[in-house]
Amino acid sequence: MSERLALTGGNPAVALQPSPWPISGDQEVEWMTEVVRSGKWSWMGPHETAFAEQFCQFLGANHGMCVSNGTVSIQCALQAVGVEPGDEVIVPGLTWVATAQAALDIGAQVVLVDIDPETLCIDPDAAAAAITPRTRAIIPVQLYGCMCDMDALGELARKHDLRIVEDVAHQHGSQWRGVCAGALGDAGSFSFQQSKVLTSGEGGFVTCRDEEAFQTAFALKQVGWTPPPDMKPAGHYGHNYRITEMQCVLLRGGLSRLAEQTEQRDANVQYLAAGLERIGGPLRAARRDPRVTRQAYYAMTMVFDPQKGEGITRDQYLQALAAEGFSAGGPYDPVYRNPLLNLYDRTSPIPYRPDVPQDYAALRLPGCEQAKNETAVLMSHTRLLAERAYMDQLLEGVEKVNGQLGEVRKHFAEV
Ligand SMILES: Cc1ncc(COP(=O)(O)O)c(C=O)c1O
Repeated sequence: MSERLALTGGNPAVALQPSPWPISGDQEVEWMTEVVRSGKWSWMGPHETAFAEQFCQFLGANHGMCVSNGTVSIQCALQAVGVEPGDEVIVPGLTWVATAQAALDIGAQVVLVDIDPETLCIDPDAAAAAITPRTRAIIPVQLYGCMCDMDALGELARKHDLRIVEDVAHQHGSQWRGVCAGALGDAGSFSFQQSKVLTSGEGGFVTCRDEEAFQTAFALKQVGWTPPPDMKPAGHYGHNYRITEMQCVLLRGGLSRLAEQTEQRDANVQYLAAGLERIGGPLRAARRDPRVTRQAYYAMTMVFDPQKGEGITRDQYLQALAAEGFSAGGPYDPVYRNPLLNLYDRTSPIPYRPDVPQDYAALRLPGCEQAKNETAVLMSHTRLLAERAYMDQLLEGVEKVNGQLGEVRKHFAEV
């Protein structure tokens, strides 16, 4: 007789808890005290300068700078590589809304294309089909726990003279054929918002391959100025997209732990993937491309197979798992469903370009819809730092639910 499902009143399979996120160390507390007392709280202080250098080195990026968040970092990166109002920018239909917003906010026309429902990353064939003479850039988003096919996208960019601006908000340290995400294209953008694997509460980072692009990006962040050591007006437009020294203290601490955390998460993902394969049933880890030589995880990407669900949906399955203490969810809404993109408001950038038709509300991309409604499953990176005994309990939870899918179906038929 199998143990009663937690969904129907039994004891949950998972008793252990992952440690809370974010993590900080004594070094940050010491530096923070020094910064507070120093009175140097912003404007390229020593922690900002040191972090930017260390992060560039970690990524193998030629140039890089901190900014105030991972949305303006996309704006800066796009403008740095030459995207201008009216240019078309290809964006995957499934990402956090900011990827598309950043392009809209600089007057570009966002062309949303489908994803691969397995990896949740942009489908290179869909990107190829969307290229027109007005296309200027593609934004590959390294989403959750899988990377985009950077070979195929690089080939498209070469063939059509397009810029690649990577959105790496989720994967600080992932590598494609030994090169870090953020150093694979013409420019890259990172977010350091609280939930990210490297965080300062809020914050962002821009990487640039070329010196000239970096000069433009820096000016955009710093009221039109040149980068240090000169820091003087450069004849470029610019805003205030600055970060603070306090944030950079947290980033330096986080960066010192990042490589080890990434390894630990990866080892746990591989352990869970092998466990899921052994157990069988509707849930499995997403396919990992062998060209990914290091995978960083904002979340572990998994796939629910409705054919093996014995009549229960992904969401019902996830509810049964959540009751056992295995917390996972579906992906972001496809961008075209987000009210922000379809909000014709006084403050929206969209209504002020009546010559550029932008109406995403009716769009439906099959890969995005499948992932959103039926198949994609994500488990947060914070759970992937826990001990092996926790992973074992997660797998016990899956095994328990998989062994009683009929009970799950019965439960939802009754409620
Ligand atoms: C894929 C993606 N791009 C961009 C962003 C924007 O970053 P931020 O919240 O720092 O502006 C996020 C943040 O959540 C994200 O997940």
